[in-house]
Amino acid sequence: MELTLTHNDKTLTIKQAQEADAPLLLYWWNDGEIMAHAGFPLGLKIDLEKVIHSITRKDKKGVLFIIYCADTPIGEMSYKVEGNEYDFGIKICNKAFQSGGYGTAILKRFFEYLFNVKNAEKITCNTNLKNIRAQLVYEDKLKMKRVKTLYNNWTNQIGELCSTTFFEITKDEYYKNKNSSNASK
Ligand SMILES: CC(C)(COP(=O)(O)OP(=O)(O)OC[C@H]1O[C@@H](n2cnc3c(N)ncnc32)[C@H](O)[C@@H]1OP(=O)(O)O)[C@@H](O)C(=O)NCCC(=O)NCCS
Repeated sequence: MELTLTHNDKTLTIKQAQEADAPLLLYWWNDGEIMAHAGFPLGLKIDLEKVIHSITRKDKKGVLFIIYCADTPIGEMSYKVEGNEYDFGIKICNKAFQSGGYGTAILKRFFEYLFNVKNAEKITCNTNLKNIRAQLVYEDKLKMKRVKTLYNNWTNQIGELCSTTFFEITKDEYYKNKNSSNASK
């Protein structure tokens, strides 16, 4: 699977991760700065074997992708599927590509793929309540609905209590929003 899109005159590609991507994922996942948003400010502390397993294991209901800008990998994303519901995660690891509209553009393309090609009925995600930027993208830009917030429901790697907020959007809601924003252009 390979999805392409253009943002800021740059070509972005979303490609399914391969075993050869394991060293790069190992580097990103063990980097505390990159992983702090997910609750691992000291990095995941995992080894190459486990990363390879997470890419290649056959029992999983999830798929992992690498995001490229031209030929440069800039981040990763994933989905997990349960019936017709797809739960995604996204991490733009290269800071130069954060807060420049890339995440929003990538997710819009990904939503089209999940709704049109994978026949998703609902897309969900969640984030740390402190992650204001992600919430802005999910709620304001992608028009997902905030459905639930669990306060102090988990403890991160360095013992800090964290809260999780959950978002979702159905296929009908997504196309209704898309058609009404196209109509107002
Ligand atoms: C979350 C993420 C996917 C968003 O993608 P992005 O390309 O950075 O986001 P965008 O540029 O499309 O939109 C971000 C918006 O938040 C704003 N923003 C950035 N930092 C902010 C902050 N600290 N507080 C409030 N708003 C902020 C930006 O200005 C922008 O809004 P604008 O377009 O109205 O100016 C990306 O930043 C990322 O992968 N971050 C690291 C990992 C992560 O947090 N993943 C999500 C965990 S669930």
